Amino acid sequence: MSVVFTDHADIWYRSAEQKAAQYFASLRKQVIEETYVPVLTEDIQMWKKNHIHRHSLLSFFSKRKRKPDSRDYHSYIQWLNYTGKLDEYLDRSVSYIYLRDLGKALDSSDTQTRVQRVVADVKNHLLHSNPVNMGKQTELMSLKALYRWAQTKGIESDIIWVIDKLKAVSTHIPQELNAEHAQRKLIKIIVGVLLHVIEEMDDTTLPAERTKRMGEAIRIGYSYGLTYPFIDDLLDSQILTSHEKEQYSKMIRTALLTGSVPELGEWTGSNLEFIQYVHSELRDAFEYIKHQQGKETQKTFFEQSYVFFHAQEIDRMKELSNADYTNEQLYIPIILKSSSSRLIVRSVIGASTDEDFDQRTFFYGIYNQLADDFADMFDDMQNGAVTPYTYYLKYRDQRSDLINPFELYWAVISHLIHHVHHSDIKTREVILNRAINGLKRFKERIGTEKYNEMMEIFASRIPAFNLLIQQMVRKADDVDFFDKLLRDQMVISLRTDREEKEFFQDTVRTVRQQINNLLQIPKHSGIPPMKESLIDAANYSLEGDSKRLRPILTWVMGVNEYGLHAAAIAPLLRSLEYMHTASLIFDDLPSQDNSSIRRGRPTLHQVHNSSTAELAGLYLIQKAIEEQSSLDGFDTKTVLALMQYSSQKAGDMCVGQAMDLDSKGRVLTLDQMNMLCFYKTGIAFEASLVMPAILAQVKGTEIATLKRFAYHAGIAFQIRDDLLDLEGDVLLLGKPIGIDVDNNNSTFVTVLGQEGARKEMWEHYCFAMEALEEIPRNIPFLKHLLDYFVNRDR
Ligand code: IPE
Ligand code: IPE
Ligand code: MG
Ligand code: MG
Ligand code: MG
Repeated sequence: MSVVFTDHADIWYRSAEQKAAQYFASLRKQVIEETYVPVLTEDIQMWKKNHIHRHSLLSFFSKRKRKPDSRDYHSYIQWLNYTGKLDEYLDRSVSYIYLRDLGKALDSSDTQTRVQRVVADVKNHLLHSNPVNMGKQTELMSLKALYRWAQTKGIESDIIWVIDKLKAVSTHIPQELNAEHAQRKLIKIIVGVLLHVIEEMDDTTLPAERTKRMGEAIRIGYSYGLTYPFIDDLLDSQILTSHEKEQYSKMIRTALLTGSVPELGEWTGSNLEFIQYVHSELRDAFEYIKHQQGKETQKTFFEQSYVFFHAQEIDRMKELSNADYTNEQLYIPIILKSSSSRLIVRSVIGASTDEDFDQRTFFYGIYNQLADDFADMFDDMQNGAVTPYTYYLKYRDQRSDLINPFELYWAVISHLIHHVHHSDIKTREVILNRAINGLKRFKERIGTEKYNEMMEIFASRIPAFNLLIQQMVRKADDVDFFDKLLRDQMVISLRTDREEKEFFQDTVRTVRQQINNLLQIPKHSGIPPMKESLIDAANYSLEGDSKRLRPILTWVMGVNEYGLHAAAIAPLLRSLEYMHTASLIFDDLPSQDNSSIRRGRPTLHQVHNSSTAELAGLYLIQKAIEEQSSLDGFDTKTVLALMQYSSQKAGDMCVGQAMDLDSKGRVLTLDQMNMLCFYKTGIAFEASLVMPAILAQVKGTEIATLKRFAYHAGIAFQIRDDLLDLEGDVLLLGKPIGIDVDNNNSTFVTVLGQEGARKEMWEHYCFAMEALEEIPRNIPFLKHLLDYFVNRDR
């Protein structure tokens, strides 16, 4: 594309600025003349009829079913349903999304119909698809739920793509930018874009088209969403030096003005690797968005992007130490940045311009900005960021001309209800709910004392109005929103997930170390030299850089879950790793996969020869049996049962390898593939889970569920292995790639293709997760192990 917008940019910005200046002038007039006060007072008087409930006999009786903490999402929804409040709750929540995110007029009957439909869907979903399993709740937000949803829409590939993208963002992002925060923002934007795209479709949209557009929406949402962590937040942070920031924003500006992302160019400093990642990710994103658009929307897109970026830049340059900003300097850039961030979504998805949407959205932006800045004012103050609130807090005494942002906020609300939405009752209802809820949440978060102090500063100039508002904050009910609940839930679940994952990684690291210390086969003095070299050969294979997943799994289940002593199960741990290592020695032989590297070093038959490798493998298997028979901390019957189970499973693994070798050059069915992989790979994971359970005498039903988990997790592990044979990195894997292709092996990739294999892997992921939900204990380790299975690079 050869368009160069340099000449237009100034004109674009100035015309946007003019419009914002007019809007600001009208708001300012309302603040100065206090015209919004009587208007809103009347609005609130009407509004409160539905929100102030006198304490009645009914509420006395319903006390036995007290309102639960909204953090307990499941009981909260149940409570809303029980008290008959769920419909209204969903109605105001969905209406608000239509108003804010989709820029709709709530008084249109079309919008109302759509809102009702969404409310019914969400209600149905909340009440029916949330079984409580053995006292455990299924998680509202989980990859499993997400993937299962994607399946109903036929957008599995897009969801897998975005899951991988989000994972990459969080592994690359520097600590200061906060990975969870970035993920949350991205998810929010993706959902927003998706909602827009869904809204653009109607009953005449064919299913295939629907699927295609939803898939694209997810990719567009991610692509556009990246600008938040990688442009706005990055430039706001202290990660880049001021020179780097200059260089970086010049690059973004060039991209917006020329229509293509320039090369990164020379980049010195410690952030090179991160910037390279960001640069390539943004370039792909930019190209993708551009590619999706028609010529007409492209110009709008560039115009809005430029205004958005430039307004942010101007806003960012402000310093709290500067006492001389005019009200216009403070407010005009934020009117522009907050509205263009929403306006742009339609051009991003290539939708045609809609004057009414543009109008409503333009006026709306500042409402949201003022609400957010209000909630964040202490953080912003601490970071020295200029927002209307921090600036007013700092300079209100010496600058009597400064507009009070809290008063402006109410003026905006009045303007939205009466001028933008023509005094529509529904709009009034929803916006006032939102405003009062915002204050309630703020008060709850910072405490009454601090809250009162803030209200003294921001709200005391018009006492009667303030009194009314404070009364509402104290007494009004039924003002909460589902999107806030989801947000809180997402914060909790992202945090828990991170903590659990860190714990998982720590556990794996420390247990792996302990297991490594147990494995070496000792050479007792006086043994014959031949035995010595066989032990050396076995130890050579054992010493390689293995992940030790199987004994780690046994250790964690045995010790952490069932309370067995680590020392007592040491023989079991050894036996598992001995058998697994033996299976790899055989698998690598020229007669099987003929591989030259294993665990980061030459394979045993390469170092010696096939017969040594075969004998070392057999030796390891016998050692494994010897170890099992020395489990003397358990009763003999139990140990015998364990050994019987173990031998049967080892036999089954041989069958798996035989099937594998027999399948060379043939295309197996999916069923055959699943069976083969369960036998050759899944069974070893099953054994690692079942053997400690046998020793701990866990109930049969629980063992059956563990087996089902292992079946699906094991196959998922093997599919990832097959994918890594194509996509992996030899150095990370410690074994050759492309070997399946060389050997003409039948794998999930040859049967289903790469995309198909990936979907099948996620399908097994979901089944394994569902099995896990049925186990009557909470075992985050297994959940994270499974996550690792499908995401691993080694
Ligand atoms: C390799 O298992 C054999 C397969 C089942 C694909 P691992 O990937 O667990 O191998 P190590 O023990 O870490 O070397
Ligand atoms: C694993 O299958 C089979 C065993 C459990 C021995 P692969 O043949 O795909 O394992 P790698 O890729 O060689 O580790
Ligand atoms: Mg093999
Ligand atoms: Mg192999
Ligand atoms: Mg393999």
